Amino acid sequence: MDIDGAGSVNFTLAGKPVVRKTIDDIKELKRSTSLPFMVKGIMCEDDALAALETGADIIGISNHGGRVLDSTPGVADVLPNIVKTIRNSKKGKKVVITADGGVRTGFDVVKMLALGADHVLTGRPIVREAVPHGAEGVRSLIDYMRSDIEKAMIMTSCNTLEDINSDIQLM
Ligand SMILES: Cc1cc2nc3c(=O)[nH]c(=O)nc-3n(C[C@H](O)[C@H](O)[C@H](O)COP(=O)(O)O)c2cc1C
Repeated sequence: MDIDGAGSVNFTLAGKPVVRKTIDDIKELKRSTSLPFMVKGIMCEDDALAALETGADIIGISNHGGRVLDSTPGVADVLPNIVKTIRNSKKGKKVVITADGGVRTGFDVVKMLALGADHVLTGRPIVREAVPHGAEGVRSLIDYMRSDIEKAMIMTSCNTLEDINSDIQLM
């Protein structure tokens, strides 16, 4: 559930006006599927708590790559406090937290993990490889990111992904 769809001009132009949803509306969507349910587009602590209230399995901290609302902060800036709020709340101990927006290299992946994300997503770099180069392009991008992740982990003495935390020095 992409909560920033509420501001979508594209849907409106296509004759599908969008409206803001209540927590109960989103709970209804969650109940309608047995698939893992993700609420994506969370950028503040209050919204993270509201997403937990809906029963979401995954909380996506995302500003949609800065494409939806101009002048929103960067995800890396808001991530640590949102993660802290989620983990300190009763319903948020086990929820999966993802982060995306501006992730371009394996070093960026490690930074987002260090700031508290469980998983890190990337959007446009994948599209830019997939369209001209297909699966081979996507594979080489992922290999490139993986190799930078490994380099960053060696340099920060992290043997496993779980060792990556806010103590490592990457800006
Ligand atoms: C062309 C395009 C369309 C997108 N459409 C959606 C969408 O419909 N719903 C959504 O949640 N995110 C959408 N996104 C945002 C991505 O899911 C993701 O959050 C964003 O691309 C991450 O930032 P990055 O591209 O800097 O990696 C879209 C992104 C692009 C580039």
